[in-house]
Amino acid sequence: MISDEQIQARVRELGAQISADYEGKTVLLVAVLRGAAIFLADLSRAMTVPVELDFMAVSSYGSSTKSSGVVRILKDLDEQIEGRHVLVVEDILDTGLTLKYLLKNLASRKPASLEVVTLLNKEGKQRVPISCKYSGFSVPDEFVVGYGLDFAERYRNLPYIGVLRPSAYQD
Ligand code: IMP
Repeated sequence: MISDEQIQARVRELGAQISADYEGKTVLLVAVLRGAAIFLADLSRAMTVPVELDFMAVSSYGSSTKSSGVVRILKDLDEQIEGRHVLVVEDILDTGLTLKYLLKNLASRKPASLEVVTLLNKEGKQRVPISCKYSGFSVPDEFVVGYGLDFAERYRNLPYIGVLRPSAYQD
């Protein structure tokens, strides 16, 4: 669906745009494990403002392809975020249920600012309104893998985004 070259070009654009917006500030990039790890690695290197990294893990799909709506923090941040500029790095915004919960939780810790960058955005799928300032690509409602996104922990290392054939997960 999206080639290696297209992803790299868009990530460089996002890095430049975000760096311009945060000129003179230090950004704490908070990646949501595990899917966002690959995007974080490339995005952080495309940024020119000072960057710090932290990680959270929340429960998501497991090996199914439907959002459960159940969100649990499996790993919390190591850093305090009060008074800091936090940019949450997500792999894909689908129903928005995961992010909604996460943003509410992070906002209660009183960061100086709190924004979201997502590589992919399944347009029209959001069940809750999410203010996502930066988005790499809008994608149709298909189950995608690669560039960090998995199906049952597979395919994360593909350098491109591909559509998983339904026969790979349907009986
Ligand atoms: P949401 O809570 O429905 O927005 O789901 C967000 C999470 O579900 C993402 O961070 C992914 O981990 C996972 N997810 C949603 N859609 C896909 C997909 O098409 N491929 C792989 N993972 C997905």
